[in-house]
Amino acid sequence: MRIYRAKNYQELSRKAANIISAQIIIKPNCVLGLATGSSPIGTYRQLTEWYEKGDLDFREVKTVNLDEYVGLSGTDHQSYRYFMNDNLFNHVNIDRQNTNVPNGKAADLQAECKRYNELIRSLGGIDMQLLGIGRNGHIGFNEPEEAFEKETHIVNLTDSTIEANARLFDNIADVPGQAITMGIKSIMQAKRILLIASGKDKADAIQKTLFGPVSPKVPASILQIHQNLTVVADDDALSECGLGSEGMIVC
Ligand code: GLP
Repeated sequence: MRIYRAKNYQELSRKAANIISAQIIIKPNCVLGLATGSSPIGTYRQLTEWYEKGDLDFREVKTVNLDEYVGLSGTDHQSYRYFMNDNLFNHVNIDRQNTNVPNGKAADLQAECKRYNELIRSLGGIDMQLLGIGRNGHIGFNEPEEAFEKETHIVNLTDSTIEANARLFDNIADVPGQAITMGIKSIMQAKRILLIASGKDKADAIQKTLFGPVSPKVPASILQIHQNLTVVADDDALSECGLGSEGMIVC
C-alpha cells in the first residue's frame, strides 16, 4: 500500500482529487465507486473546481455509490443520492443516467441488492473505489463482525454509526436503522482503492486498519491485502500509526 500524508483536510482533498482526476484522464469512461460522508466533500469540491477550469471532463464517467439508507428517497436531503447530486453531480457534466446509488425505497430490497451487483458486473467492475472510514473501522456500511464474503446486502446499523451520523439529521430518531451497502467482497473487487481519512477521531480506526490484524472486527483491515490500495490521510488521522513525517510511505 501507498500512504500519502497530508497536513490538513484541504491538502488531503487536493491529493485525493488529483488521484481521481488522473484516473479520469487515463480512462475517460472509467467506473468510479463513490462515497458519502464529510470526508469526500472537499475532494468533490476540488474536482468541481478543476472541471470548471476545463481540466476535467466527466461526460463518459460512470459512477456507483457504496450505499444508501433504507427508507429514504433520492429527494430526501439526508439520502446519499441527494448528497451526491448536491456535492458533485449537479456541478459537473456527468450524464445522470451514468450515476448509480442503491435505491433505499425499493419495494423488494433483496431484489435491489441483486440488481446492484449485476449492475456493477455489467459495467465491467469498478476502476477506482473511493472510501471514507467510520470510527469503528466500517467501510460503506459494512459494520464490524460482518462476513468479508458479502456483495451488496442489507445491514442493521450499529448504535455508534447511528450516533455518528445523527449530526446530519434533525433528530437521532430520524436516522434510519438499516442501509443497503456494497459488501466487502464488492469493494475488494475494485481494481484500485483510494481510502481517505481526516481527523483525530479516525486515528484509532486508521491504525487498526493499516497495521492491525486483518479481522472482521475492523472491516477496513481487509484492505491491507488489496493489490492496489492508496491511502490519503492527514497528520491527525495518522497520529497513532507511529510513522515518520515523510509525505509518502510505501509499506
Ligand atoms: C457513513 C458512510 C461511510 C463513511 C462514514 C464516515 O457511515 N456510510 O461511507 O465513510 O460514514 O463518514 P465521515 O466521512 O463523515 O466521517
